[in-house]
Amino acid sequence: MQSRSYVPALGDHRLSPFYDATIALMTCERTWRRALVRQIAPEPRDVILDIGCGTGSLAIQLKRACPSASIYGVDPDPDILTRAEEKARDADVLVHFSQGYAQDAGTIAARIRPNKLVSSLVLHQIPLAGKRMALLAALDALRPGGELHIADYGLQASPLMRLAFRQVQTLDGYGTTQPNADGVVPELMEDVGFAGVEETQVIPTPTGSISLYRAHKH
Ligand SMILES: C[S@@+](CC[C@H](N)C(=O)[O-])C[C@H]1O[C@@H](n2cnc3c(N)ncnc32)[C@H](O)[C@@H]1O
Repeated sequence: MQSRSYVPALGDHRLSPFYDATIALMTCERTWRRALVRQIAPEPRDVILDIGCGTGSLAIQLKRACPSASIYGVDPDPDILTRAEEKARDADVLVHFSQGYAQDAGTIAARIRPNKLVSSLVLHQIPLAGKRMALLAALDALRPGGELHIADYGLQASPLMRLAFRQVQTLDGYGTTQPNADGVVPELMEDVGFAGVEETQVIPTPTGSISLYRAHKH
């Protein structure tokens, strides 16, 4: 697994200690994370897998919103997972973190059979072919009737948002980010077989607009 590569949380491992503060400041984090948690609407018997969980912010908020839901987080970066584990300990919540890639979600989920799969700010860091593989793996990972919820930089509809998004593109690279800015994410979701694909919100931020998407598996 480790021969694969990935773009780290802020595009460079040396910046990871500043990840949470940067995201809070540069993405209107409170607005989109709250909207995403509301959309996911965790319930007591839910098994939720957070793909590319980073420092665990979403997973921890989901557990706080519904303490009896089972929450799992995977990320390929061992350093970021250590940060996530520390944050969950400090928040006094139980989240199960482990190392893994989005493209392997099917294998990761075989044991836990999630009914909700969630992911925030991850697909823009994965090359186009990998985005497709990740969404296919998400479909494979979910139980029938299960839901997919994504928040990520999406179609940058205005010149101002396209300009703002350049900051992310400079950090994370153009090859992985441009397809998101061109609006490829919902197209891919439909393409791989998700039903009811919807862009539910578009939130302008200082680093480009963040879209929330929802879909389900038949
Ligand atoms: C910008 S951070 C987002 C972290 C977190 N989801 C959040 O909302 O703050 C992107 C994360 O995706 C992870 N990542 C990059 N490529 C990945 C892949 N192929 N599969 C899963 N995670 C990946 C990175 O390690 C990083 O932690």
